[in-house]
Parts: sequence; C-alpha cells; structure tokens
Amino acid sequence: MSMPSLAGRRLRTDPWIIAHRGYRTRYPENTLCAFAAAIEAGADMIELDVMLARDRRMVVIHDDTLDRTTNGRGPVGLKTLAELKKLDAGGWFAPQFAGETLPTLEEAMDLMGGRVLINIEIKRNAYEPDDPPDAVERQLLDLVKRRGLLNSVLISSFEVRLLERIASRGDGVALAFLNRNAGEPGNIETCRKLQAFSFHPNWIELKGEHVREFHQAGFPVFPYNADTEEQIRRVITTGADGIITSDPLLAREIWKEEESSQT
Ligand code: G3P
Ligand code: CA
Repeated sequence: MSMPSLAGRRLRTDPWIIAHRGYRTRYPENTLCAFAAAIEAGADMIELDVMLARDRRMVVIHDDTLDRTTNGRGPVGLKTLAELKKLDAGGWFAPQFAGETLPTLEEAMDLMGGRVLINIEIKRNAYEPDDPPDAVERQLLDLVKRRGLLNSVLISSFEVRLLERIASRGDGVALAFLNRNAGEPGNIETCRKLQAFSFHPNWIELKGEHVREFHQAGFPVFPYNADTEEQIRRVITTGADGIITSDPLLAREIWKEEESSQT
C-alpha cells in the first residue's frame, strides 16, 4: 500500500471521511484503540487533539481536565507524562476498554503514520505568546518531520496566531482553519493569509452558499461534529468535501447511498 498523502487524495469527487477523535461512537475517544478501529472502518483521515503535560510532553486528549475521559482528576497540564500514563482512559467508556491509556502523540503517530492521513488539532489555549523553544507547535512539527509525515499531516486550530506562527516557519505543513461559524466575515481572508489547505466549520451553521464561497476561493470545506444520520445527510446537501465525524462507518455508508441515489 502506498503512503497516503494529502495531495494524493482527490478532492470534490471523493468525500473525505475524517474520524473525529478516532471511532468515537464505539471506542473511547483519542485512544489508540479508537484510532485503530477508525483505520479498520476505512476512514481517510483521523482527527485528534493534542495538549502538553506538566513536563511539556505531547499527550493526546481533548479536554483541559482529566475528569471526563480518564479516572484522574484536575487539569492535564498539572501532571507529568509518567503520572498521566498511570491513568485509565478507557474504562469510563465501557468496562472492556479498561486499561487503555492516554497516548502520547508519538505513540499515535507510530500507530497511524503511513497508514492514514492525520489531522492534529492544537487547542486554542495551547498558544503561548512568548513562543518558547518547546512550544507545542514546534515540538509537533519536529516530530512530523522526523517521522517523514509532512505530506500526510494536517494541523488545525481555532487559534489563528498559532497557525500563523506555524505558517511563518515555512515547513510546508498543511494547515486548516477551524471556526465554528462558517458565515463569519473574514474566514476566507484568514484562509488566504494562512494559505490554508482547508476550512473546518461546525456543521450546524454551514449552508451550501458558504461551501460555494469557499470553493470559489479555492478552499475545501470539512465540517465537524456531524455524527447522526440526519446530521451527516445535512452535511452532504451543503456540497462539503467531506466530514469530521465520530461515526466514520455510518458516514461512509450514507455518503455512498446519497451518491448512488443521484446517479
Ligand atoms: O477538529 C474539529 C473538531 O474536533 C473541533 O472541536 O471540540 O471536537 O475538538 P472539538
Ligand atoms: Ca478536535
């Protein structure tokens, strides 16, 4: 199998099914088993969230705090990686996943790199104005380059300053601008400034006219958090280029069904 690359995957003709925090409807989010299951389910890309531990190591978790998705308590950033690794990140979801740990970004890349496209979201509050040498975006870029994955990784964020900083490094990594509201003035200009690969809005506010505007400007649109059958069908009607969904298998089936009903 050839190495997946962003440039190698067709846009507009083939929908991109992007698994949100892995196969999140059936597995504990942002864990290695959720990523493996999403690959197995045929996802084109896997989305995950990265944060820094107290000792500045990159760990994959969505929330600022440990309470919802682990048996730990309190802010992620107050624990070292060794402390985080002792936590159970699967049992909260279902007993059979007990023992699943919070992955480091390295572990996630080891599992997925070269097998599937990867969308790494850097959370807004990870932005550090003083730009330390071990800022999350610097560590992340270094890791992506070391693994030879520049062509298969897409970095997204709601924090424009963070994306601007990455763009200014000139590494050529693909960037996606996240903004909840697709119709907010200035979105396209921001994508242009960043030379973004794509734009990722919440599906709820997304309309066909927004998608057409982004397409005219040259940017694919991948809406996020559309997980139910109804939500997925709504996204398809907008003409979006794919979907960031917690149920990649369902999204694939519905997309195929909608396409065959149009032919
Ligand atoms: O990357 C899109 C989506 O994941 C952004 O929202 O809260 O699920 O990280 P959230
Ligand atoms: Ca995310």
